[in-house]
Order: sequence, then structure tokens, then C-alpha cells
Amino acid sequence: MATMESLIGLVNRIQRACTVLGDHGGEGMSLWEALPSVAVVGGQSSGKSSVLESVVGRDFLPRGSGIVTRRPLVLQLHKIEGGKSEYAEFLHAPKKRFTDFAAVRKEIADETERITGKSKQISNIPIHLSIYSPNVVNLTLIDLPGLTKVAVEGQPESIVEDIENMVRTYVEKPNCIILAISPANQDIATSDAIKLAREVDPSGERTFGVLTKLDLMDKGTNATDVLEGRAYRLQHPWVGIVNRSQADINKNVDMIAARRKEREYFETSPEYGHLASKMGAEYLAKLLSKHLETVIRQRIPSIIALINKTIDELNAELDRIGRPIAVDSGAQLYTILELCRAFDRVFKEHLD
Ligand code: GDP
Ligand code: NA
Ligand code: MG
Repeated sequence: MATMESLIGLVNRIQRACTVLGDHGGEGMSLWEALPSVAVVGGQSSGKSSVLESVVGRDFLPRGSGIVTRRPLVLQLHKIEGGKSEYAEFLHAPKKRFTDFAAVRKEIADETERITGKSKQISNIPIHLSIYSPNVVNLTLIDLPGLTKVAVEGQPESIVEDIENMVRTYVEKPNCIILAISPANQDIATSDAIKLAREVDPSGERTFGVLTKLDLMDKGTNATDVLEGRAYRLQHPWVGIVNRSQADINKNVDMIAARRKEREYFETSPEYGHLASKMGAEYLAKLLSKHLETVIRQRIPSIIALINKTIDELNAELDRIGRPIAVDSGAQLYTILELCRAFDRVFKEHLD
């Protein structure tokens, strides 16, 4: 009997194969779009990259003040057997295995610059990164540039709109789970994340509200109104987060210490103590993977239909280019076909 984890793992592998090859869903909804992913949305420096890192439990993303994330980063987490050592791989450098996560961060920064230069410009060409680890949940996460209000020196006037349009192309897809990031030290009524999320997901069924920077609120104020759903009601519960501050980053405070600090913050907080078990990045990661399971389970019948269509199309294409497969693209097609078949088998088992 297949576990839900192996199902999501297979979804991940198919998404990756589709990425390598270009999509093969044909007309209508493509395979990629049928499968769920999670994107972070929010204003610049609201803590998007920090939240993603914390959900993954590894330090590997460029973070900081100003516009640091300047290309979409499509991050696929693949759970591997316990005891095996973790590594990362970029689609643009498929033969290179990264085991040093500081080098991953540098490669993201370098690869961003390769397209945008050292400027503050953005590009909508995504960077694809896969992390293989025994310590992750199977998940596709997308880090995006922050929404802004004005162009700064070195940016074209159109940047405000360009970023919003780029973000919208990800979050408007019905398969996209939205992590709407708002900093607690700004009024929730001014949150760009909530504004955009509400626009593309009016019912709120695929939006998770995340409130960062709880530690930076003015003395005498607190965020219980938001966290308890009174200020702005969402279908899913709000999750409060305390990420590393810039000072922590400068001091190289590691992930384990950061998570411990976050847990202590909630457990000892007079305002949030009663919510402690439902706050923090680890809880958010669990909430997300549970939600993902539900979504995939609901979609099983439509995904099976799509897979079968894809199998037919791939078979036709293989016939067209001729078998046996010698050329590279043929081999990749074949890999997808095999994955689709495995997927179909596992899903059917799951339905029984
Ligand atoms: P992004 O631009 O939305 O991706 O935000 P980053 O994750 O790069 O964070 C921007 C800055 O805010 C960094 O200096 C972080 O250290 C800081 N930051 C993010 N979240 C928090 C938080 O919860 N508390 C504190 N004190 N600082 C935070
Ligand atoms: Na930033
Ligand atoms: Mg960022």
C-alpha cells in the first residue's frame, strides 16, 4: 500500500520531469498545473525568504533588506531515506551536487546576477533548485520577489507593475497554495499580500496567512486580533512567526538555534502563550504538508485522467520520433512516461 508521502514524492518527480522537458499536458490544464505547489507572496522585506528557509529547515536562501530575491526560485523538496546525506541540485547545472548550503546560496545569487546583472532589476525567468534530504517533507515551494510601491534608483518605473504581474502569474493558478506574508509591525489593512491573495483567491481556500516580525511590534501592542482571526478572517488559521533578525543573520545564528529561540518566544510570551502550539515555522510546515495531502487526495481522479492523457500523448510522440530511443529528448520522454505509469499505479492503489 502506497503512503501519502510516496504519492507526494511521485508528484514532485513528475513536476521535475515536466520542468526538464517542457510541459506535456496538451490542451486544457497541464500536468504541472494539476499538481499543487506553494508560493510566498508579500511586500519587500516582509520575511518571505526567511519563512521559506524556516519551513525547509535549512539555511540556503539569500535574505536581507532591499530587493534580494530578483528571480522566482522554484524549490522542490524531495524526501530521501533516513541515513542518506542531503544535497542540492540546480536545473541549470544538473551534474553538480551541492552539499554545502552556503554554496547553494551563493549559486542562487550568482545565477540571479547572470540574468539581471548586479542591478536591482528583476527577471521572470525562474531558477529551479531541488533539495534531497531525509529531513524535508515532499513539497514544491516558490520564492518570489517582493511587491513594492515605488521604483528605486536603478529600477525602471514599470517595476512595481512588473513584479505584481510576475507574482500574479504564479498565485492565480488554482493549484497554487498561497503563503501570504505580512509583517506584524505594519497594519494588516495595508498588507499587499492579503490584497493580492484576496483578489486571486476570494474564498480563501488556498491562502495561508503568515504574520512575521512579531518580535518587532511596538511595545504595548500585540497581534492577537490578527492571529485569532478577528482582524482579518481567513479560512485557514493564521500562523505567527519569529524569524531571525538581521543582527542574527550577521552573527550567523543557525537554523536550530533560530527554531529554539522561536519556540521559546511563543512558549514564554504573555500574549501568545495560549497559542504556542499553533505558532512557528515548524507548525507551518506541518500545516502545509497536511493541506497538500488533502488537496492531492481530492484531485486523484482528475490527475489520473490527466496522466492517462499524457501517457497517450507521450506514446504518440515516441511513435513519431521513433523507437528505440537513442536521442536525449526521447530518453527524457520515456522517463516521464515511466513516471506517469508509476504514478497511475500508485494512485489507483490509493483509490482501492
Ligand atoms: P523578503 O524580502 O520578504 O524575502 O525578506 P527576508 O527574508 O529577506 O527578510 C528581510 C529582513 O527582515 C532580513 O534582515 C531579516 O532578518 C528580517 N526579518 C524577517 N523576518 C523577521 C522576524 O520575524 N523578526 C525579525 N526581527 N526580523 C525579521
Ligand atoms: Na528583502
Ligand atoms: Mg526574499
